[in-house]
Amino acid sequence: MCGIVGYVGEKQAAPVLLDGLEKLEYRGYDSAGLAVLDGKNNINIARAKGKLCELFKKTDGGKALEGVCGIGHTRWATHGEPSENNAHPHFNDDKTIAAVHNGIIENYAELKGKLSRQGYEFYSETDTEVATKLVDYYYKKHGDPVRAIANFVLRVRGSYALAVLFKDYPDQIFAVRKDSPMIIGVAGGEAFIASDVPAILKYTKSVYYVANTEIAHVEKGKVTFYNLDKEVVEKDLTEITWNAQSAEKDGYEHFMLKEMHEQPRVVKDTVNGLIKDGKIDFSDFGLSDKDIAKVKHITVVACGSAYHAGVAAQYVLEELARIPVRVELSSEFRYRNPVADKNCLVIVISQSGETADSLAALREAKKLKMKTLAIVNVLGSSIAREADGVLYTKAGPEIAVATTKAYSSQLIAGYALALKFATVRNTITQERYKELLSELSTLPEKIECILKQKESIQHFASEAANKKNVFFIGRGVDYAVCIEGSLKLKEISYVHSEAYAAGELKHGPISLIEDGTLVIGVLMQENLIEKTLSNLVETKSRGAYIAAVTCGDDKKVENVADVKITVPYTDGLFAASLAVIPLQLFAYYLSVLKGNDVDKPRNLAKSVTVE
Ligand code: G6P
Repeated sequence: MCGIVGYVGEKQAAPVLLDGLEKLEYRGYDSAGLAVLDGKNNINIARAKGKLCELFKKTDGGKALEGVCGIGHTRWATHGEPSENNAHPHFNDDKTIAAVHNGIIENYAELKGKLSRQGYEFYSETDTEVATKLVDYYYKKHGDPVRAIANFVLRVRGSYALAVLFKDYPDQIFAVRKDSPMIIGVAGGEAFIASDVPAILKYTKSVYYVANTEIAHVEKGKVTFYNLDKEVVEKDLTEITWNAQSAEKDGYEHFMLKEMHEQPRVVKDTVNGLIKDGKIDFSDFGLSDKDIAKVKHITVVACGSAYHAGVAAQYVLEELARIPVRVELSSEFRYRNPVADKNCLVIVISQSGETADSLAALREAKKLKMKTLAIVNVLGSSIAREADGVLYTKAGPEIAVATTKAYSSQLIAGYALALKFATVRNTITQERYKELLSELSTLPEKIECILKQKESIQHFASEAANKKNVFFIGRGVDYAVCIEGSLKLKEISYVHSEAYAAGELKHGPISLIEDGTLVIGVLMQENLIEKTLSNLVETKSRGAYIAAVTCGDDKKVENVADVKITVPYTDGLFAASLAVIPLQLFAYYLSVLKGNDVDKPRNLAKSVTVE
């Protein structure tokens, strides 16, 4: 939901800002803009509707805006339609202050009313223009940027990452955040502001994680942090371990294709990060065996694909550890007044660690005094910092809006949790434990093997290119894969699809099956194959075209399926890790065939920092 960047240093700012925005375009891509201080005490702004390439053209790759200090923004519209007028940065009335903002100012209407009564005029529909003019109001009152921003913080409700240029302070940026991400990197005589690490990875790996309501005064190679009383706050730099290459396409046509191909490595790294001396070890993640023994129930909260990884984890955890698990959408959990239960462990799964609903769900769980564990991909993100314990998935930066490798690494974290809980709770034999641990280590190779057969999925996608409706059905873990496969298809190929537990189809949705409707059955659970197969036959009798994702050479499947997609065998509990790969590829190739923007699908943003 919007990406912000800032730069101050020796280089021309605009090209650096455009480069950073390109890495953040996954956060929003309906308009973009830059503001640069030109060294003669002018703030020059350029804004353009549409993708970043429009701004690039308009500014001749940034050459049109001279100066070594500036801020930039890529927008995902909240207040006001995507247009040049609503694009950030926004100015105060006399163009002496410019600001970019990510988040939502909830009381903007009330503030706009008050500022209007003070004589302020508004040219856009955005809450950001209100924020800029509120900073202006306090700056004119106090004559000090830090005090102005501190007053802004005290006055607004909502979430924000705000970066501000003041004409009176050339070569300096002032910034603040609350519940929207912001990092500040330094390198030699340069400093960088960004909503996310990939934007600055090329320039530095030394970053400060800005805490809520901390005010940053950013100068060449130097950052000073203040609290709201303008007292200096000492902070430590964190070294990022991701490499710059991981934020580049590396010869692949799309980030999504590259990220799908990174899955064998990511799964391997995540598995290796969880095993110590041949055993799953959670002691580094703030969850000791003693803590685990106290847990009587688990609630997983997450959004989107992370929620789907939670659904898969639920099946595996309940099966292996015999512990009740509930999986909830963060947006529901946060408002449904959940019952406080000190024996419940709340697990928040999130790639970005910044999803607004998941962060709010985590806070709700903490308020209710429940123990919390975060499964997060981004180091130092808000959810990682606020949870009692944190387990980092090892997916590296994920740029494509539709997640693939982060989802795969979340699955692994779920399996590891299940194995760990099963050992502590004594619900697994040593033999089975070892068997599953060894199976876990074979997954990367098996995923690699599926990726090598990607042409067959591409062919299947070309056959399915005209389908208007697709159903995914499966049971148990296979059902968990179906909901993810269906989401991938909707997200990037814009094809209507539904995922149903196979047994549920005849309770309504079967009425939608007609001649040629594509039904994809996931048949990876040996004990459930026949059951799902009968449900597929029911749809076939009504004209459906059947594709089956399976791991055996079961003749019964061949007799029913028009298309059979075979993946290597794995234990049914880990089936999601393999069955999801052809479904990701299917969505990808369909999206490419339709000429869609695979990495930046319409209306979506990768990191949803508004509710
Ligand atoms: C967005 C993304 C999804 C992601 C979801 C949750 O909708 O497009 O890919 O699964 O947010 O994001 P999180 O960062 O919390 O995993």
